[in-house]
Amino acid sequence: MSRRVKDYFEQVSSQWDTLRNSFYTDEVREAILNAVKVGPLDTVLDAGAGTGYLTEAAAKRARSVIALDFSKSMTDQARGKITRPNVEFKLGNVERIPLADSSVDVVIGSMIHHCPRPHVAIRDMVRVMKPGGRTALSDMQQHSFEWLRADHADLWLGFDMEEVSQMLVEAGLDSIRVETLDSFCSSSKDGKAVQVPLFLASATKKYSAATVYDS
Ligand SMILES: C[S@@+](CC[C@H](N)C(=O)[O-])C[C@H]1O[C@@H](n2cnc3c(N)ncnc32)[C@H](O)[C@@H]1O
Repeated sequence: MSRRVKDYFEQVSSQWDTLRNSFYTDEVREAILNAVKVGPLDTVLDAGAGTGYLTEAAAKRARSVIALDFSKSMTDQARGKITRPNVEFKLGNVERIPLADSSVDVVIGSMIHHCPRPHVAIRDMVRVMKPGGRTALSDMQQHSFEWLRADHADLWLGFDMEEVSQMLVEAGLDSIRVETLDSFCSSSKDGKAVQVPLFLASATKKYSAATVYDS
């Protein structure tokens, strides 16, 4: 876990919705939810749920949503807004998810550039997915805006889409798609606006070789 990342989100929680609206549009959320086709029987994990941007929309479609975040103040903001009974809030690290193996149908998120070890986070997301479970993660494509590290606690300057694909393969996923989204992450420094292309990665968890099907 990165203390700097956690401190940043503890501090910006009350302004996060405004900040996020300046970063990206609701099309990103729709793309994530559509990629995993959230349905009424699904238990969904929102990894790095923050103030509940994905959680709230997923909860309208799913049986239940677990909103996981390591920031208490981001989680408190989400709790203050989302009163649906099918949402459970959990404090914890996405690199060590406090859930049992094979316990959720779907994992969604848009935060791996804040993780010290994104491949570890993805591996743990896959651990908690049921065989056949679906995931959709969005994030920034590789860029060179170093100042995002200091200004917004970014640990990774986006990701090369090939490397994302490789991380998903190594985590044991199947049906992998990593595509450019039409949406961007917008930000600005010293009055200069920049737009970073986003990707959407989606995949399903393999059934293990030991799975036996009745004929
Ligand atoms: C960029 S925000 C995204 C929040 C939300 N998904 C959204 O789109 O508004 C990243 C969130 O991930 C959380 N986060 C970052 N690293 C984390 C980690 N290692 N474990 C759990 N949460 C983490 C932060 O506290 C923050 O709420």
